[in-house]
Amino acid sequence: MQYVCLGASPTLDLHNMSLLLGLGQQLLLLLLALPRLNCASNSTQSTLDRQADALLRWRSSLHDGSYYLDSWRKGTSPCNWTGVTCSNARPSGRDQGDVSLVVSNISLALNGLQGRLDRLHFADLPYLVYLDLSYNFLSGQIPSSIGALAELAFLDMSDNDLDGSIPPSIGLPHLTHLNLAWNALSSKIPSSLGALTELSFLDLSSNRIFGHIPPSICNLTKLTSLDLSYNFFSKGSMPSTLGALEKLKNLKLIHNNLTGPIPSSIGNLTSLVFLDLSNNWIKGSIPRSMGNLTCLEFMDLSNNQLKGSIPRTFSKLISLTTLSLQSNQLNGLLPPELGSLVFLSHLNLSSNHFIGSIPPQIGQCILLSSLRISNNLLTGQIPYILGYLTNLYELDLSRNNLTGAIPVTLSQLYGLSRLNLSYNHLGGKVLYTSIPPSLTNISLDHNMDLCGDSQYSMYGLTPCIAPELHSEQQIVKRSHFKLLPAFLGISFICLILACIAVVCQRRELVENTIENKSGDMLCIWNFDGQIAFEDIVGATENFNEKYCIGVGGYGSVFKVELEGGVIFAVKLLHSMEEYGDEGTFHAEIEVLTKIRHRSIVKLYGFCSHSQCKFLVYDLIERGSLESILHEQELVEEVDWPKRIAIVTDIAQALSYLHHDCEDPIVHRDIKSSNILLDLDYKAYISDFGMARKLKHGYSSWSTIFAGTCGYIAPELSSTMVLTEKCDVYSFGVVALEVVIGKHPGELLLPFFCRTEQPGKLQDILDRRITAPSTVEEEKAVILVALVAFACLQVNPKARPTMQQVYQALSIRSYPALMLRPLHEIRLQDLHDYCGSIKSI
Ligand SMILES: *[C@@H]1O[C@H](CO)[C@@H](O)[C@H](O)[C@H]1NC(C)=O
Ligand SMILES: *[C@@H]1O[C@H](CO)[C@@H](O)[C@H](O)[C@H]1NC(C)=O
Ligand SMILES: *[C@@H]1O[C@H](CO)[C@@H](O)[C@H](O)[C@H]1NC(C)=O
Ligand SMILES: *[C@@H]1O[C@H](CO)[C@@H](O)[C@H](O)[C@H]1NC(C)=O
Ligand SMILES: *[C@@H]1O[C@H](CO)[C@@H](O)[C@H](O)[C@H]1NC(C)=O
Ligand SMILES: *[C@@H]1O[C@H](CO)[C@@H](O)[C@H](O)[C@H]1NC(C)=O
Ligand SMILES: *[C@@H]1O[C@H](CO)[C@@H](O)[C@H](O)[C@H]1NC(C)=O
Ligand SMILES: *[C@@H]1O[C@H](CO)[C@@H](O)[C@H](O)[C@H]1NC(C)=O
Ligand SMILES: *[C@@H]1O[C@H](CO)[C@@H](O)[C@H](O)[C@H]1NC(C)=O
Ligand SMILES: *[C@@H]1O[C@H](CO)[C@@H](O)[C@H](O)[C@H]1NC(C)=O
Ligand SMILES: *[C@@H]1O[C@H](CO)[C@@H](O)[C@H](O)[C@H]1NC(C)=O
Ligand SMILES: *[C@@H]1O[C@H](CO)[C@@H](O)[C@H](O)[C@H]1NC(C)=O
Repeated sequence: MQYVCLGASPTLDLHNMSLLLGLGQQLLLLLLALPRLNCASNSTQSTLDRQADALLRWRSSLHDGSYYLDSWRKGTSPCNWTGVTCSNARPSGRDQGDVSLVVSNISLALNGLQGRLDRLHFADLPYLVYLDLSYNFLSGQIPSSIGALAELAFLDMSDNDLDGSIPPSIGLPHLTHLNLAWNALSSKIPSSLGALTELSFLDLSSNRIFGHIPPSICNLTKLTSLDLSYNFFSKGSMPSTLGALEKLKNLKLIHNNLTGPIPSSIGNLTSLVFLDLSNNWIKGSIPRSMGNLTCLEFMDLSNNQLKGSIPRTFSKLISLTTLSLQSNQLNGLLPPELGSLVFLSHLNLSSNHFIGSIPPQIGQCILLSSLRISNNLLTGQIPYILGYLTNLYELDLSRNNLTGAIPVTLSQLYGLSRLNLSYNHLGGKVLYTSIPPSLTNISLDHNMDLCGDSQYSMYGLTPCIAPELHSEQQIVKRSHFKLLPAFLGISFICLILACIAVVCQRRELVENTIENKSGDMLCIWNFDGQIAFEDIVGATENFNEKYCIGVGGYGSVFKVELEGGVIFAVKLLHSMEEYGDEGTFHAEIEVLTKIRHRSIVKLYGFCSHSQCKFLVYDLIERGSLESILHEQELVEEVDWPKRIAIVTDIAQALSYLHHDCEDPIVHRDIKSSNILLDLDYKAYISDFGMARKLKHGYSSWSTIFAGTCGYIAPELSSTMVLTEKCDVYSFGVVALEVVIGKHPGELLLPFFCRTEQPGKLQDILDRRITAPSTVEEEKAVILVALVAFACLQVNPKARPTMQQVYQALSIRSYPALMLRPLHEIRLQDLHDYCGSIKSI
């Protein structure tokens, strides 16, 4: 090959200056290329001109209206044309010597080009590195002369009207990106594709490709994205060595005729984030090894022929936000481990053969917005806990064998816009108050025992015949039935309370306790005023809704103003029948009567009666941190100094619980809705319903509904062992929430998976308040963020103790490495240096 030794700068107009250039060439030849006299033997036409000619010939073959290519004119340099860029190329095969200006990039996406691709003479464009012709109307075949593009790294011809086969010559060794999607290509995948060892992106979706997926595709070990969806791979299966593609993040094989099982080597694809194998004929069971895909955020295996049960290893898929397994032949019980999928927002298990009841652990996935388990063989009651999934937008449990009443908790789902409970065996009366007021799309039909007020007739409910009689009969029936358990329950509570009373007396922890026992009622007061059960009931008009100031996990909170102006918050517990765990009541009383701390909400007493049970606290006026962070008007008041103080208060209280009590106490449910703020924005920890004392430093975790998703330490779901470090993690979530102004949500995922942290701290700070204004404030914000990152480490042992955290925050000790202006701090720095918190 001959090359012209051309040193022209891209701004020169070559045509107008050809004479001059001719001279320049001679000069350059003499000066630079003396030893290689054959260099310019074809001086009649430069490489660039040849490329320009090839492009102009193609342009003239295109249909009129390629208006964007107006700059493509003979006599001008192609380097100046729309969509064309040149670079200095060194002839291949030589590592030094002559360079010349050549057309290297063509980028003509979305230019309305109409015409034939095969009129483009690739042999004249051998220096192309980058070719993007996507989103045009090019037709014809991909010419096999594409093999001449030996340097090509990027090829995108997606969304055109190309047909014919994929030429084997496409096996270009430097290709890293190949996209031929959305054409009408019909051939097998050429085996030469296996030679593209540099390829990281391959998209051949939405064509008519047939045959099977060649095993040689597993040679492409640098692939990060593979999409072969919407083709006609007739009845082949996935290559068993798929697991070799260890860098793969994105795998889509939607809507092909794939058969055979999912290869168990899929568990090796540990970088996978997005997996869609839906709409095939895939058989066999879901491999257990899929539990290794801990970075997976999206999984769709729907519309296949999968059998067997959901592997319990799915509990490790903690990054999942969408899980779609509908329309398969899956069976067995729904694994309680689904409750570990704390980021899940879409769960679709419809149209399978699942049996057993809906595990209440699903209530832990608080980000769920769509839950569909219709058309299965589920039995048992609808767990009341579903009523705490406040993000729920649609709930479809139709076509099962569910029994019992519709839980009243569902009435709290203000965001619910679709509820389908039709075709079950539900019973009871649908009250106006058991359906969220906003809900209009309701199906309750085909439930034999369900009846409703007249306003529900349009939902297919029969009116309740002789309502008085009917409901009375039910109550009578029920009370007979429930008498024994209720009696046992009450005796048990009495026993607990008696024990506590004894313990308290002996340890003299509760000094002013007044015990008032009469009939089936017991009240214990730790308050030097006079309160009676009747006073509370009277002041709230028998717990009328208008005094309700909040609904928590275990009960509703009422504001109570007694005569004389004393104000309390009273938490009325849900009936024992509903939350089924006396331990909760027990735990809260036991913990709160023993601890005294300025940042822990004070318990004044409790009453237990066969009809109701409540706890009486100090009223913390401003309500929860969560509600304040959600209110645009309120949040502006909470500036950076207040936020730093809030985080420090929480740290101090937790440090006290973990380190200053006889046995460490783990709160287990630290979250922003359990942090209350008073009028001075001082923070208090509340809601000790799940708190546990740790004996010998740990406790095994067995309660069904423990912790709140989005705040639970990841190890809890896998090890089931509770330590103080679980609170440390939850504290980290709250601290980060205070810094960024909302639940960190997906921001937590990088801690589990990605090592590279893109972005800067400054970019995630809550923008609703003015940026930190002094150096001291900046430093404190950085410190809080650093502490949060330290607490969110996956390894519990790596997290600091609350004592270390409180110490770091209270003495404002800044690791030297972080002493830089706020705008220079990258999230990666916080990640890298968070270990320094432990050594303060
Ligand atoms: C490119 O176009 C600009 C004006 O649009 C002109 O000044 C310049 O000389 C041209 N360069 C070449 C190499 O044609
Ligand atoms: C010079 O290049 C032109 C155009 O590519 C070609 O037709 C001609 O044969 C070449 N001449 C020599 C001597 O290589
Ligand atoms: C040409 O393509 C290469 C490879 O993708 C890219 O790195 C380079 O930035 C592109 N050059 C221009 C000027 O677009
Ligand atoms: C590609 O894969 C095939 C079959 O999987 C194998 O026989 C072949 O050696 C591989 N080629 C390269 C270049 O690795
Ligand atoms: C895919 O499988 C279905 C069902 O077996 C069949 O009807 C269809 O023709 C197949 N398509 C191709 C392209 O093989
Ligand atoms: C999967 O990984 C294991 C262990 O890293 C390795 O032994 C095995 O060969 C891998 N399988 C495939 C198909 O790459
Ligand atoms: C993948 O999962 C299997 C089965 O659950 C397990 O035996 C194996 O150790 C896991 N491999 C890795 C690399 O985690
Ligand atoms: C869930 O599955 C059903 C039944 O296959 C389907 O109609 C629905 O679109 C799916 N919903 C979601 C949110 O994926
Ligand atoms: C579901 O209910 C139907 C009708 O009452 C009954 O025939 C069927 O056996 C029940 N299935 C299960 C799994 O309970
Ligand atoms: C509710 O579910 C039933 C049975 O799955 C279905 O026939 C009906 O169309 C659904 N209703 C709505 C409003 O989606
Ligand atoms: C109820 O929801 C179903 C499924 O999303 C939808 O097809 C239907 O149109 C909705 N009905 C109303 C009245 O909004
Ligand atoms: C004890 O309870 C009874 C009945 O509720 C009430 O009349 C009395 O005042 C209470 N005594 C104290 C000391 O609270």
